[in-house]
Amino acid sequence: KTSYTSRRAPVLGTFGVDKLEQIAREKLKESPDAFLYVFGSAGTGSTKEENRKEFERWKIVPRVLRNVAGRNSETTLFGVKYPSPLLFAPVGAQGIVHADAEEASSAAAGKLGVPFIMSSASTRSIEAVAKANGSGPRWFQLYWGKTNDVMHSLITRAKTNGFSAIVFTVDSMMIGWRPFDLDTGYLPFGHGVGAQVGLTDPVFMRKVGLDVFPPDAKPEFPYVAARQDELIAQGDKAATDSLKAGQAFVGEMLDPAKVWEDLAYLRKHWEGPLIIKGVLCAEDAELAIKHGADGIVVSTHGGRQIDGSISSLLGLHQIMQSPIVRTAQAEGRFTILLDSGVRTGSDIFKALALGAQGVLYGRPVMYALAIAGQEGVEAQVRTVLADFEITLGLAGYASVDELRKNGEKALVRI
Ligand code: FNR
Repeated sequence: KTSYTSRRAPVLGTFGVDKLEQIAREKLKESPDAFLYVFGSAGTGSTKEENRKEFERWKIVPRVLRNVAGRNSETTLFGVKYPSPLLFAPVGAQGIVHADAEEASSAAAGKLGVPFIMSSASTRSIEAVAKANGSGPRWFQLYWGKTNDVMHSLITRAKTNGFSAIVFTVDSMMIGWRPFDLDTGYLPFGHGVGAQVGLTDPVFMRKVGLDVFPPDAKPEFPYVAARQDELIAQGDKAATDSLKAGQAFVGEMLDPAKVWEDLAYLRKHWEGPLIIKGVLCAEDAELAIKHGADGIVVSTHGGRQIDGSISSLLGLHQIMQSPIVRTAQAEGRFTILLDSGVRTGSDIFKALALGAQGVLYGRPVMYALAIAGQEGVEAQVRTVLADFEITLGLAGYASVDELRKNGEKALVRI
C-alpha cells in the first residue's frame, strides 16, 4: 500500500491551497490572463463560491477508540484498485501555465499511481501524454463535437494509447459566460494552445484543410496571443495553422444539439467504462443509467459554466436520494464521482461520506504545475492525500470502504 503521510519539504512554498493560488498568481504575473483563465469562473463566481460553502456546511462527526493504526486509502473503481479515491480532473490548456504542460502533470500522476484524466483540449497530443504517464492509469475526457469522424479518431487514439475509460463532458456544450476571459479577450483555444489534440489529429486537420502537426510537436511557451501574433506577422506557418486549427477546434468540438439518445452511438463504439461528466440532479443520473453509462461525475465544472447553479456537493446529496441510483451503485453497475471545490482531505472525506466513490482535483493541480512543474504537482497531490489519510483515521475510519459503509452518519449539516 502507498502511504502519503511522510513529510517532505514544501517545494510549493506552502501546504495550503489558498496560499498556493496566491503564489501561482505571482508566478504567472507575466501572463495574468492565463492565471485568470484558470482561476476564473462563470458570471459573478457564485457557483464557484457555493461549491466551497456547501463543503463548509457539512461537518465531520468523529468516532474515537476504533483502531485506526492500519489506515488504507485504497479505492476500487470499475474493478481496478487505486491507491486513493483521488483522480486528476481533466483540465485543458495546461501549456498556458507551464512549458511542460500535460506531460508534467501526467508524469506526476503516473508516478503516484493516481488516475490521470486527459482533457480533449490538452496542449499535448494523446500520444505524448500517454508516453509521459508511462504505466500509470489514464482515462480520456471527450468533447464529442458536431461530426462523429473526429470523435471516432480521438477515442481510437485514446484506446490505442492505453486510456481505459471515457469521460464524456456534457455541461460544456457552449463555453460559459466568463467575465475575466471576456475582459482580457483571452481564450486559449483561439490561440492554438488548447487545440494540440486537434492539431495532431489527422481526421480533424484534414477536415479543416491544414497540415497535421506531428504528435510530439510542442507549442512554444507561452504560446499566447502576443507571441503567436508576432510569429504570424513573421509568416510562421505553424503559428498560423495553429491559430486556425484552435479556432476551428472550438467550433467543431462543442455540439449543443446532443441529446441522451445520442449516447447509444458512443456506447456502441466504446467498450470500456463510459462516464458522463457534469450531472447535477437525480433525474439526469437516472437517465445516464437508462442510456447505458457506467458512471457520472457530479460536477459544476468548477463553477465555470453556470453562474448560480447548485453546488456539486448538494447535487450529489440530491442524486443519492434516488432509489434507482442507489441500487445501481450498490449493485456495482454505476459509479459516482464528484468534483468542483475539492481542496482538502476533509473535502474528500465529506464527498465520500455523502456517496461519492472518488473525487477529481482541478485547479490546485494547475496552480502547483504553474509553480513547480511535475515536482510541484506530485507534492500537491501527496499533500492532499496525506491530509485525507490523517483525517480519515482521526475521524475513526481505517479505510475508505469503512467510511463509505457508514456514509452520511459520519457527518452533520449545520
Ligand atoms: C477545466 N475543466 C475541464 N473539464 C473538462 O471536462 N474538460 C476540460 O477541458 C476542462 N478544462 C478545464 C480547464 C481549466 C483551466 C479548469 C480550471 C477546469 C473542469 C475540471 O475538469 C473540473 O470539473 C473542475 O476544475 C473542478 O473544480 P475545481 O477543483 O477546479 O474547483
